[in-house]
Amino acid sequence: MAADPTSDIADVGLADDGDARIEWADRSMPVLARVRERLAKERPFAGLRFAACMHVTTETANLVRALREGGADVALCASNPLSTQDDTAAALVARHGVRVFARSGVDVETYYRHIDAALDIAPDLVFDDGCDLVNTLHASRTELLGGVRGGCEDTTSGAHRLRRMAEDGALRFPMVAVSESTTNDMFDNRYGTGQSTLDGIMRATNLLVAGRTVVVAGYGLCGQGIAERAAGLGARVVVTEVDPVRALDALMQGHQVMRMRDAAAVGDVFVTATGNAAVVNTEHFAVMKDGAVLANAGHFDVEIDVRALTSLAVARRRVRRQVEEYVLDSGRRLLLLAEGRVVNLAAAEGHPPAVMDLSFAVQALSAVWLAREGSALAPGVHAVPADIDREVARLKLLAAGLEIDAMTTEQLAYLRSWRQGS
Ligand SMILES: NC(=O)c1ccc[n+]([C@@H]2O[C@H](COP(=O)([O-])OP(=O)(O)OC[C@H]3O[C@@H](n4cnc5c(N)ncnc54)[C@H](O)[C@@H]3O)[C@@H](O)[C@H]2O)c1
Repeated sequence: MAADPTSDIADVGLADDGDARIEWADRSMPVLARVRERLAKERPFAGLRFAACMHVTTETANLVRALREGGADVALCASNPLSTQDDTAAALVARHGVRVFARSGVDVETYYRHIDAALDIAPDLVFDDGCDLVNTLHASRTELLGGVRGGCEDTTSGAHRLRRMAEDGALRFPMVAVSESTTNDMFDNRYGTGQSTLDGIMRATNLLVAGRTVVVAGYGLCGQGIAERAAGLGARVVVTEVDPVRALDALMQGHQVMRMRDAAAVGDVFVTATGNAAVVNTEHFAVMKDGAVLANAGHFDVEIDVRALTSLAVARRRVRRQVEEYVLDSGRRLLLLAEGRVVNLAAAEGHPPAVMDLSFAVQALSAVWLAREGSALAPGVHAVPADIDREVARLKLLAAGLEIDAMTTEQLAYLRSWRQGS
Protein backbone atom coordinates (compact mmCIF):
# COMPACT_ATOMS: atom_id res chain seq x y z
CA MET A 1 0.00 0.00 0.00
CA ALA A 2 1.38 3.45 -0.91
CA ALA A 3 2.21 5.88 1.88
CA ASP A 4 -0.47 8.51 2.40
CA PRO A 5 1.03 11.88 1.39
CA THR A 6 -1.38 13.76 3.66
CA SER A 7 0.15 12.26 6.80
CA ASP A 8 2.68 14.02 9.01
CA ILE A 9 5.09 11.54 10.56
CA ALA A 10 8.80 11.56 11.43
CA ASP A 11 10.19 9.05 8.95
CA VAL A 12 8.34 6.60 6.73
CA GLY A 13 11.59 4.64 6.46
CA LEU A 14 10.97 3.28 9.98
CA ALA A 15 7.98 1.25 8.77
CA ASP A 16 9.74 -2.16 8.86
CA ASP A 17 10.73 -1.74 12.51
CA GLY A 18 7.26 -0.52 13.37
CA ASP A 19 5.56 -3.40 11.61
CA ALA A 20 7.74 -5.95 13.42
CA ARG A 21 6.80 -4.40 16.77
CA ILE A 22 3.10 -4.19 15.89
CA GLU A 23 3.22 -7.90 15.05
CA TRP A 24 5.02 -8.62 18.34
CA ALA A 25 2.29 -6.79 20.30
CA ASP A 26 -0.37 -8.64 18.30
CA ARG A 27 0.93 -11.95 19.69
CA SER A 28 -0.21 -10.85 23.16
CA MET A 29 -3.56 -9.52 21.96
CA PRO A 30 -5.62 -12.65 21.21
CA VAL A 31 -8.98 -11.11 22.14
CA LEU A 32 -8.51 -8.16 19.81
CA ALA A 33 -7.43 -10.62 17.09
CA ARG A 34 -10.72 -12.54 17.52
CA VAL A 35 -12.66 -9.27 17.38
CA ARG A 36 -10.69 -8.25 14.28
CA GLU A 37 -11.65 -11.49 12.52
CA ARG A 38 -15.28 -10.88 13.41
CA LEU A 39 -15.13 -7.30 12.13
CA ALA A 40 -13.51 -8.44 8.87
CA LYS A 41 -16.47 -10.77 8.30
CA GLU A 42 -19.26 -8.44 9.38
CA ARG A 43 -17.81 -5.09 8.11
CA PRO A 44 -19.91 -2.97 10.52
CA PHE A 45 -17.88 0.16 9.71
CA ALA A 46 -18.11 -0.02 5.92
CA GLY A 47 -18.21 3.54 4.53
CA LEU A 48 -17.57 5.16 7.94
CA ARG A 49 -14.79 7.61 8.79
CA PHE A 50 -13.11 7.59 12.18
CA ALA A 51 -10.86 10.22 13.80
CA ALA A 52 -8.74 8.90 16.68
CA CYS A 53 -6.60 10.86 19.11
CA MET A 54 -4.65 8.21 21.00
CA HIS A 55 -1.15 7.30 22.10
CA VAL A 56 0.48 6.16 18.86
CA THR A 57 1.80 2.84 20.14
CA THR A 58 1.91 -0.70 18.79
CA GLU A 59 -1.20 -1.61 20.80
CA THR A 60 -3.16 1.30 19.34
CA ALA A 61 -1.93 0.20 15.92
CA ASN A 62 -3.60 -3.17 16.46
CA LEU A 63 -6.85 -1.48 17.46
CA VAL A 64 -6.67 0.66 14.32
CA ARG A 65 -6.02 -2.47 12.23
CA ALA A 66 -9.21 -3.99 13.68
CA LEU A 67 -11.20 -0.85 12.87
CA ARG A 68 -9.80 -0.90 9.32
CA GLU A 69 -10.77 -4.57 8.92
CA GLY A 70 -14.28 -3.54 9.93
CA GLY A 71 -14.35 -1.20 6.93
CA ALA A 72 -13.49 2.19 8.50
CA ASP A 73 -11.32 4.89 7.01
CA VAL A 74 -9.13 6.06 9.94
CA ALA A 75 -7.18 9.25 10.68
CA LEU A 76 -4.98 9.06 13.77
CA CYS A 77 -3.23 11.76 15.78
CA ALA A 78 -1.35 11.59 19.08
CA SER A 79 -2.98 12.16 22.45
CA ASN A 80 0.32 13.20 23.99
CA PRO A 81 3.28 15.01 22.39
CA LEU A 82 5.80 12.59 23.91
CA SER A 83 4.15 9.19 23.60
CA THR A 84 4.36 8.68 19.82
CA GLN A 85 6.40 5.72 18.63
CA ASP A 86 7.68 7.03 15.30
CA ASP A 87 8.24 3.56 13.84
CA THR A 88 4.65 2.56 14.66
CA ALA A 89 3.36 5.74 13.01
CA ALA A 90 5.44 4.93 9.90
CA ALA A 91 4.08 1.37 9.68
CA LEU A 92 0.49 2.55 10.03
CA VAL A 93 0.96 4.97 7.14
CA ALA A 94 3.00 2.74 4.85
CA ARG A 95 1.42 -0.65 5.53
CA HIS A 96 -2.04 -0.15 6.95
CA GLY A 97 -3.57 2.71 4.97
CA VAL A 98 -4.04 5.01 7.94
CA ARG A 99 -3.59 8.79 7.84
CA VAL A 100 -1.32 9.56 10.78
CA PHE A 101 -0.51 12.99 12.17
CA ALA A 102 1.98 12.30 14.94
CA ARG A 103 5.66 12.77 15.59
CA SER A 104 7.41 12.22 18.87
CA GLY A 105 8.32 15.40 20.76
CA VAL A 106 6.21 17.95 18.85
CA ASP A 107 5.40 21.30 20.45
CA VAL A 108 1.92 22.15 21.68
CA GLU A 109 1.03 24.11 18.54
CA THR A 110 1.87 21.15 16.27
CA TYR A 111 0.02 18.81 18.64
CA TYR A 112 -3.22 20.77 18.10
CA ARG A 113 -2.52 21.18 14.37
CA HIS A 114 -2.35 17.39 14.18
CA ILE A 115 -5.71 17.07 15.95
CA ASP A 116 -7.17 19.49 13.42
CA ALA A 117 -5.68 17.50 10.55
CA ALA A 118 -7.17 14.24 11.85
CA LEU A 119 -10.57 15.93 12.15
CA ASP A 120 -10.37 16.88 8.46
CA ILE A 121 -11.54 13.33 7.76
CA ALA A 122 -15.03 14.55 8.89
CA PRO A 123 -15.57 11.70 11.35
CA ASP A 124 -18.66 9.58 11.93
CA LEU A 125 -17.07 8.21 15.12
CA VAL A 126 -14.30 9.63 17.30
CA PHE A 127 -11.83 7.92 19.63
CA ASP A 128 -10.26 10.09 22.29
CA ASP A 129 -7.75 9.67 25.09
CA GLY A 130 -7.95 12.72 27.31
CA CYS A 131 -10.77 14.57 25.50
CA ASP A 132 -8.54 16.94 23.49
CA LEU A 133 -10.06 15.87 20.17
CA VAL A 134 -13.66 16.14 21.39
CA ASN A 135 -12.82 19.48 22.93
CA THR A 136 -11.29 20.80 19.70
CA LEU A 137 -14.31 19.54 17.78
CA HIS A 138 -16.68 21.50 20.03
CA ALA A 139 -14.46 24.60 20.24
CA SER A 140 -13.25 25.20 16.70
CA ARG A 141 -14.58 22.55 14.31
CA THR A 142 -18.29 22.92 15.02
CA GLU A 143 -19.13 22.47 11.32
CA LEU A 144 -18.31 18.77 11.79
CA LEU A 145 -20.43 18.17 14.90
CA GLY A 146 -23.61 17.23 13.01
CA GLY A 147 -21.88 14.30 11.32
CA VAL A 148 -20.59 12.64 14.51
CA ARG A 149 -22.63 9.67 15.73
CA GLY A 150 -20.60 9.23 18.89
CA GLY A 151 -17.28 8.15 20.26
CA CYS A 152 -15.19 6.40 22.88
CA GLU A 153 -13.05 7.96 25.64
CA ASP A 154 -10.12 5.93 26.89
CA THR A 155 -8.94 7.59 30.09
CA THR A 156 -10.27 8.69 33.49
CA SER A 157 -9.30 12.35 33.07
CA GLY A 158 -11.00 12.45 29.65
CA ALA A 159 -14.24 10.98 31.05
CA HIS A 160 -14.08 13.59 33.82
CA ARG A 161 -13.84 16.43 31.26
CA LEU A 162 -16.67 14.93 29.18
CA ARG A 163 -18.95 14.86 32.25
CA ARG A 164 -18.23 18.55 32.87
CA MET A 165 -19.08 19.25 29.21
CA ALA A 166 -22.31 17.23 29.52
CA GLU A 167 -23.29 19.10 32.72
CA ASP A 168 -22.83 22.39 30.88
CA GLY A 169 -25.07 21.09 28.07
CA ALA A 170 -22.10 21.44 25.71
CA LEU A 171 -21.52 17.83 24.66
CA ARG A 172 -23.33 17.26 21.37
CA PHE A 173 -23.09 13.48 20.89
CA PRO A 174 -22.91 10.27 22.95
CA MET A 175 -19.48 9.27 24.30
CA VAL A 176 -18.79 5.85 25.79
CA ALA A 177 -16.52 5.96 28.86
CA VAL A 178 -14.37 2.96 27.98
CA SER A 179 -12.02 3.87 30.85
CA GLU A 180 -14.81 3.04 33.29
CA SER A 181 -15.61 -0.41 31.96
CA THR A 182 -14.89 -3.08 34.53
CA THR A 183 -12.16 -4.69 32.46
CA ASN A 184 -10.46 -1.34 31.85
CA ASP A 185 -10.56 -0.21 35.47
CA MET A 186 -9.53 -3.52 36.98
CA PHE A 187 -6.81 -4.52 34.55
CA ASP A 188 -5.67 -1.60 32.39
CA ASN A 189 -5.35 1.00 35.17
CA ARG A 190 -4.17 -1.33 37.89
CA TYR A 191 -1.85 -3.77 36.14
CA GLY A 192 -1.06 -1.78 32.98
CA THR A 193 -0.31 1.59 34.58
CA GLY A 194 1.16 -0.08 37.66
CA GLN A 195 3.79 -2.09 35.81
CA SER A 196 4.59 0.35 33.01
CA THR A 197 5.00 3.32 35.36
CA LEU A 198 7.66 1.48 37.34
CA ASP A 199 9.14 0.35 34.01
CA GLY A 200 9.33 4.00 32.84
CA ILE A 201 10.99 5.16 36.06
CA MET A 202 13.52 2.33 35.93
CA ARG A 203 14.34 2.77 32.24
CA ALA A 204 14.78 6.52 32.69
CA THR A 205 16.97 6.31 35.81
CA ASN A 206 18.24 2.71 36.15
CA LEU A 207 17.39 3.15 39.82
CA LEU A 208 17.28 0.25 42.29
CA VAL A 209 13.80 0.42 43.72
CA ALA A 210 14.43 -1.95 46.63
CA GLY A 211 14.95 -0.10 49.90
CA ARG A 212 13.72 3.26 48.54
CA THR A 213 10.74 5.21 49.75
CA VAL A 214 8.29 5.62 46.91
CA VAL A 215 5.57 8.21 47.46
CA VAL A 216 2.42 7.58 45.41
CA ALA A 217 0.00 10.51 45.16
CA GLY A 218 -3.55 9.28 44.51
CA TYR A 219 -4.79 5.81 45.35
CA GLY A 220 -7.24 5.27 42.49
CA LEU A 221 -6.80 2.13 40.39
CA CYS A 222 -3.65 3.60 38.80
CA GLY A 223 -2.14 4.58 42.15
CA GLN A 224 -3.02 1.19 43.61
CA GLY A 225 -1.23 -0.56 40.76
CA ILE A 226 1.84 1.65 41.10
CA ALA A 227 1.95 1.15 44.89
CA GLU A 228 1.61 -2.64 44.54
CA ARG A 229 4.38 -2.91 41.95
CA ALA A 230 6.70 -0.60 43.92
CA ALA A 231 6.11 -2.65 47.08
CA GLY A 232 6.73 -5.82 45.07
CA LEU A 233 10.13 -4.46 44.06
CA GLY A 234 11.05 -3.87 47.70
CA ALA A 235 10.16 -0.21 48.15
CA ARG A 236 8.62 1.32 51.26
CA VAL A 237 5.43 2.85 49.90
CA VAL A 238 3.87 6.05 51.19
CA VAL A 239 0.43 7.01 49.84
CA THR A 240 -1.02 10.52 49.84
CA GLU A 241 -4.76 10.98 49.26
CA VAL A 242 -7.61 13.43 49.70
CA ASP A 243 -10.30 10.73 49.89
CA PRO A 244 -10.46 9.16 53.38
CA VAL A 245 -11.87 5.83 52.11
CA ARG A 246 -9.06 5.39 49.62
CA ALA A 247 -6.50 6.49 52.22
CA LEU A 248 -7.85 3.86 54.61
CA ASP A 249 -7.69 1.26 51.85
CA ALA A 250 -4.01 2.15 51.31
CA LEU A 251 -3.33 1.79 55.02
CA MET A 252 -4.97 -1.63 55.15
CA GLN A 253 -2.94 -2.71 52.14
CA GLY A 254 0.10 -2.12 54.33
CA HIS A 255 1.25 1.23 52.96
CA GLN A 256 2.07 4.31 55.04
CA VAL A 257 -0.38 7.18 54.66
CA MET A 258 0.56 10.80 55.19
CA ARG A 259 0.15 14.31 53.84
CA MET A 260 2.33 15.25 50.89
CA ARG A 261 4.00 17.96 52.97
CA ASP A 262 5.22 15.22 55.35
CA ALA A 263 5.98 12.69 52.62
CA ALA A 264 8.00 15.30 50.69
CA ALA A 265 10.85 15.15 53.20
CA VAL A 266 11.13 11.35 53.29
CA GLY A 267 10.49 10.25 49.70
CA ASP A 268 13.17 9.11 47.27
CA VAL A 269 10.76 8.76 44.33
CA PHE A 270 7.47 10.63 43.86
CA VAL A 271 4.80 9.38 41.46
CA THR A 272 1.58 11.29 40.85
CA ALA A 273 -1.60 9.56 39.63
CA THR A 274 -4.40 11.83 40.79
CA GLY A 275 -5.89 13.50 37.70
CA ASN A 276 -5.43 16.72 39.69
CA ALA A 277 -3.18 19.78 39.36
CA ALA A 278 -0.10 20.90 41.37
CA VAL A 279 -0.23 17.91 43.71
CA VAL A 280 3.54 18.24 44.06
CA ASN A 281 4.38 21.93 44.32
CA THR A 282 6.75 24.57 45.70
CA GLU A 283 5.99 23.72 49.33
CA HIS A 284 7.14 20.15 48.65
CA PHE A 285 10.15 20.96 46.44
CA ALA A 286 11.40 23.09 49.34
CA VAL A 287 11.93 20.08 51.63
CA MET A 288 12.72 17.24 49.23
CA LYS A 289 15.96 15.30 49.55
CA ASP A 290 18.87 15.80 47.20
CA GLY A 291 18.39 13.42 44.26
CA ALA A 292 14.62 12.97 44.69
CA VAL A 293 13.01 11.62 41.51
CA LEU A 294 9.74 13.16 40.29
CA ALA A 295 7.50 11.23 37.91
CA ASN A 296 3.92 11.61 36.76
CA ALA A 297 1.55 8.86 35.62
CA GLY A 298 -1.59 11.00 35.43
CA HIS A 299 -2.92 11.89 32.02
CA PHE A 300 -2.04 15.61 31.97
CA ASP A 301 1.32 17.21 32.72
CA VAL A 302 -0.14 19.35 35.51
CA GLU A 303 0.29 17.08 38.53
CA ILE A 304 3.88 18.13 39.23
CA ASP A 305 4.10 21.92 39.16
CA VAL A 306 6.89 22.08 36.59
CA ARG A 307 6.52 25.82 36.11
CA ALA A 308 7.14 26.42 39.83
CA LEU A 309 10.07 24.02 39.79
CA THR A 310 11.56 25.85 36.81
CA SER A 311 11.32 29.22 38.54
CA LEU A 312 12.82 27.84 41.76
CA ALA A 313 15.81 26.32 40.00
CA VAL A 314 19.12 28.18 39.78
CA ALA A 315 20.38 25.76 37.15
CA ARG A 316 18.91 23.05 35.00
CA ARG A 317 20.37 20.43 32.69
CA ARG A 318 19.51 17.17 31.00
CA VAL A 319 21.45 14.39 32.72
CA ARG A 320 20.01 11.39 30.89
CA ARG A 321 17.38 10.74 28.23
CA GLN A 322 14.09 11.77 29.91
CA VAL A 323 15.83 13.02 33.08
CA GLU A 324 16.12 16.76 33.71
CA GLU A 325 18.08 17.87 36.77
CA TYR A 326 16.86 21.01 38.56
CA VAL A 327 19.38 22.51 40.97
CA LEU A 328 17.85 24.55 43.79
CA ASP A 329 19.68 27.38 45.54
CA SER A 330 20.36 25.09 48.51
CA GLY A 331 22.37 22.94 46.11
CA ARG A 332 19.83 20.11 46.24
CA ARG A 333 19.09 18.47 42.90
CA LEU A 334 15.60 17.29 41.93
CA LEU A 335 15.26 14.95 38.96
CA LEU A 336 12.18 15.41 36.79
CA LEU A 337 11.30 12.55 34.45
CA ALA A 338 9.76 13.05 31.00
CA GLU A 339 9.02 16.74 31.60
CA GLY A 340 6.28 15.72 34.03
CA ARG A 341 4.31 13.98 31.29
CA VAL A 342 3.02 10.38 31.48
CA VAL A 343 6.21 8.58 32.42
CA ASN A 344 5.06 5.10 31.38
CA LEU A 345 4.49 6.24 27.81
CA ALA A 346 7.30 8.76 27.48
CA ALA A 347 10.08 6.72 29.09
CA ALA A 348 8.76 3.17 28.51
CA GLU A 349 6.31 1.67 26.03
CA GLY A 350 3.04 2.25 27.86
CA HIS A 351 0.81 -0.58 28.94
CA PRO A 352 1.89 -4.05 27.88
CA PRO A 353 -0.16 -5.39 24.96
CA ALA A 354 -1.65 -8.23 27.02
CA VAL A 355 -3.56 -5.69 29.08
CA MET A 356 -4.40 -3.34 26.21
CA ASP A 357 -5.89 -6.42 24.54
CA LEU A 358 -8.82 -6.09 26.93
CA SER A 359 -9.27 -2.31 26.76
CA PHE A 360 -9.04 -2.18 22.99
CA ALA A 361 -11.33 -5.17 22.47
CA VAL A 362 -13.87 -3.31 24.65
CA GLN A 363 -13.23 -0.21 22.56
CA ALA A 364 -13.69 -2.00 19.21
CA LEU A 365 -16.93 -3.65 20.38
CA SER A 366 -18.18 -0.33 21.80
CA ALA A 367 -17.51 1.19 18.37
CA VAL A 368 -19.68 -1.51 16.77
CA TRP A 369 -22.42 -0.68 19.28
CA LEU A 370 -22.08 3.06 18.51
CA ALA A 371 -22.04 2.51 14.75
CA ARG A 372 -25.29 0.58 15.05
CA GLU A 373 -27.09 2.44 17.85
CA GLY A 374 -25.22 5.76 18.18
CA SER A 375 -27.90 7.85 16.52
CA ALA A 376 -30.49 6.54 19.02
CA LEU A 377 -28.36 7.45 22.07
CA ALA A 378 -28.72 10.82 23.79
CA PRO A 379 -25.72 13.18 23.90
CA GLY A 380 -23.82 12.56 27.13
CA VAL A 381 -21.49 10.05 28.74
CA HIS A 382 -22.59 6.42 28.47
CA ALA A 383 -21.35 3.29 30.21
CA VAL A 384 -19.97 0.38 28.21
CA PRO A 385 -22.80 -2.18 27.96
CA ALA A 386 -22.12 -4.89 30.57
CA ASP A 387 -22.35 -7.71 28.04
CA ILE A 388 -19.33 -6.27 26.17
CA ASP A 389 -17.24 -6.44 29.37
CA ARG A 390 -18.31 -10.02 30.03
CA GLU A 391 -17.70 -11.09 26.43
CA VAL A 392 -14.18 -9.63 26.46
CA ALA A 393 -13.31 -11.31 29.79
CA ARG A 394 -14.74 -14.60 28.48
CA LEU A 395 -12.62 -14.41 25.33
CA LYS A 396 -9.49 -13.61 27.39
CA LEU A 397 -10.04 -16.68 29.58
CA LEU A 398 -10.68 -18.76 26.48
CA ALA A 399 -7.44 -17.53 24.94
CA ALA A 400 -5.63 -18.58 28.13
CA GLY A 401 -7.20 -22.05 27.81
CA LEU A 402 -9.19 -21.55 31.02
CA GLU A 403 -12.75 -22.54 31.77
CA ILE A 404 -14.91 -21.32 34.62
CA ASP A 405 -18.00 -22.81 36.24
CA ALA A 406 -21.55 -22.06 35.15
CA MET A 407 -24.33 -21.81 37.70
CA THR A 408 -26.63 -24.81 38.01
CA THR A 409 -30.40 -24.38 37.58
CA GLU A 410 -30.75 -24.88 41.36
CA GLN A 411 -28.19 -22.17 42.08
CA LEU A 412 -29.93 -19.74 39.72
CA ALA A 413 -33.27 -20.48 41.37
CA TYR A 414 -31.70 -20.05 44.84
CA LEU A 415 -30.26 -16.64 43.99
CA ARG A 416 -33.52 -15.47 42.45
CA SER A 417 -35.58 -16.50 45.49
CA TRP A 418 -35.96 -14.57 48.76
CA ARG A 419 -37.85 -17.36 50.61
CA GLN A 420 -34.94 -19.58 51.56
CA GLY A 421 -32.97 -18.39 54.64
CA SER A 422 -30.85 -20.11 57.27
N1 LIG B 1 -0.35 6.68 32.54
C1 LIG B 1 -1.32 5.93 32.04
O1 LIG B 1 -1.09 5.08 31.18
C2 LIG B 1 -2.70 6.10 32.57
C3 LIG B 1 -3.63 5.05 32.43
C4 LIG B 1 -4.89 5.21 32.97
C5 LIG B 1 -5.22 6.40 33.59
N2 LIG B 1 -4.30 7.41 33.68
C6 LIG B 1 -4.56 8.69 34.35
O2 LIG B 1 -4.12 8.57 35.71
C7 LIG B 1 -4.89 9.45 36.54
C8 LIG B 1 -5.51 8.64 37.67
O3 LIG B 1 -6.41 7.69 37.13
P1 LIG B 1 -7.33 6.76 38.09
O4 LIG B 1 -8.18 5.94 37.19
O5 LIG B 1 -6.50 6.10 39.12
O6 LIG B 1 -8.23 7.95 38.74
P2 LIG B 1 -9.12 7.95 40.04
O7 LIG B 1 -9.96 9.18 39.92
O8 LIG B 1 -9.77 6.64 40.28
O9 LIG B 1 -8.05 8.15 41.24
C9 LIG B 1 -7.42 9.34 41.49
C10 LIG B 1 -7.21 9.45 43.00
O10 LIG B 1 -6.45 10.62 43.27
C11 LIG B 1 -6.96 11.23 44.44
N3 LIG B 1 -6.59 12.64 44.48
C12 LIG B 1 -7.17 13.71 43.87
N4 LIG B 1 -6.52 14.83 44.21
C13 LIG B 1 -5.51 14.48 45.04
C14 LIG B 1 -4.49 15.20 45.72
N5 LIG B 1 -4.40 16.53 45.64
N6 LIG B 1 -3.62 14.50 46.49
C15 LIG B 1 -3.71 13.16 46.63
N7 LIG B 1 -4.66 12.42 46.01
C16 LIG B 1 -5.54 13.08 45.22
C17 LIG B 1 -8.46 10.99 44.35
O11 LIG B 1 -9.07 11.08 45.64
C18 LIG B 1 -8.53 9.59 43.76
O12 LIG B 1 -8.60 8.58 44.78
C19 LIG B 1 -5.90 10.11 35.59
O13 LIG B 1 -5.34 11.32 35.12
C20 LIG B 1 -6.00 9.12 34.44
O14 LIG B 1 -6.47 9.73 33.25
C21 LIG B 1 -3.04 7.27 33.19
